[in-house]
Amino acid sequence: MKVDVLLGLQWGDEGKGKIVDVLTPKYDIIARFQGGPNAGHTLEFEGVKHVLHTIPSGIFHEGVINLIGNGVVIDPVIFREELRKLEPFNIDIRSRLVISKKAHLILPTHRLLDAASEAAKGKNKIGSTLKGIGPTYMDKTGRNGLRVGDIFSPNFREKYDALVDKHRQMLDRYDGFEYDLSELEPNWMEALESIRALEAVDSEHYLNNAMLNGKKVLAEGAQGTMLDIDFGTYPFVTSSNTVTAGTCTGLGIAPNRIGNVIGIFKAYCTRVGSGPFPTELEDETGEAIRKEGHEFGATTGRPRRCGWIDLPALKYAIMINGVTELSMMKADVLSIFKEINVCTHYIINGEKYDYFPYDVNDVEVTPVYESLPGWNQDLTQLSDFEDSPEELKAYVTYLEQKLQVPIKVVSVGPDRKQTLHNKALA
Ligand code: GDP
Ligand code: IMO
Ligand code: MG
Repeated sequence: MKVDVLLGLQWGDEGKGKIVDVLTPKYDIIARFQGGPNAGHTLEFEGVKHVLHTIPSGIFHEGVINLIGNGVVIDPVIFREELRKLEPFNIDIRSRLVISKKAHLILPTHRLLDAASEAAKGKNKIGSTLKGIGPTYMDKTGRNGLRVGDIFSPNFREKYDALVDKHRQMLDRYDGFEYDLSELEPNWMEALESIRALEAVDSEHYLNNAMLNGKKVLAEGAQGTMLDIDFGTYPFVTSSNTVTAGTCTGLGIAPNRIGNVIGIFKAYCTRVGSGPFPTELEDETGEAIRKEGHEFGATTGRPRRCGWIDLPALKYAIMINGVTELSMMKADVLSIFKEINVCTHYIINGEKYDYFPYDVNDVEVTPVYESLPGWNQDLTQLSDFEDSPEELKAYVTYLEQKLQVPIKVVSVGPDRKQTLHNKALA
């Protein structure tokens, strides 16, 4: 058995959570491989909207194990809150959720360091979610971090205090940054109980044994390819590998065990936080997309920047990830337009580019568009792709030709049911 991978191809918030939930019945295990509570994955069914941050998006399905991998960073306080929000749904969490002993912990001081660093950067700030992601991954690679396995150790408090001492010295270097740990710390220590109550596993063994026993695994990514620490629009990125390779390091899956790679993209483009976004629309068209698509962050509530679909960026993401099939999300949002623009390439300093140059942050990138007829009608009631308007089918075929990967799913609303399977390809 191979591991299928599902991940975002743009700047996050593509609709990964929804599709993981739709696909979960086909799998035995859903495993998150990176990121942390910077993620907000939304699922909607039976009239209820759920937002998950750390917990994999298969949690609502009986008989499926959800695994938080070693590549993930966990804030116990946010994690406990996520578990509390699941309480009304009578899910036997202990039988469905396991955590890698090697996943790193976000300390209250990591969040403070994130805030201090962003404040110090001023107008050059990354626009981080302020969840402590960067500082936690820095401690991981700096070999100072605390891991889930450490909380079971008798000298955990010692290790914690040593790391906090280091953080305090760092925080003292930020002029005028004030903080108070007196409430944050006991609350964090208490929240660790919600992790202790669950099964902590050697997740690389757990997953590889499960595969040997014929279990099907879906790896769930967070963020998106253009936010990848190596291949995204650095430095305006997150601090982990969001790409397929992140599955290998974030779960302990060998490269030759990777199966299908499902790339999720919106029929247009959004970004939250700072950094280059060539097709951004800072006008009434962008505003119309934001309004129609409810483009406000699931984690921070910030308005998302909106623009047309960007084929050079998508092609790049498909290449880096080895994408084998695509899901196109939020097609219904484009129903408001008579014409839809698609960016086919960029002009930079008078030259044609079909990829992001190294200095993308410093040069002016002019997107060049091809215009396609819109469908301009409601899609949200559709249940069969075959019944969709010809213009939507033409849009899908056009993208498939440009991207050279089949679009197997077209999503026409946030609900689980508003998902069209392109049967010609399924
Ligand atoms: P994720 O981080 O990739 O899981 O995506 P988010 O949950 O942050 O953002 C996607 C948003 O779009 C959520 O509010 C979803 O409920 C919503 N959504 C997902 N698919 C569709 C769709 O096809 N149409 C519409 N209108 N909304 C969708
Ligand atoms: P999901 O999984 C969209 C963005 C932040 C910021 C940059 C760095 O829901 O798609 P960080 O807090 O990671 O240091 O922030 O990355 N960002 C996301 N944008 N969706 C996400 O996750 C994101 N996670 C981080 O806005 O620009
Ligand atoms: Mg999100």
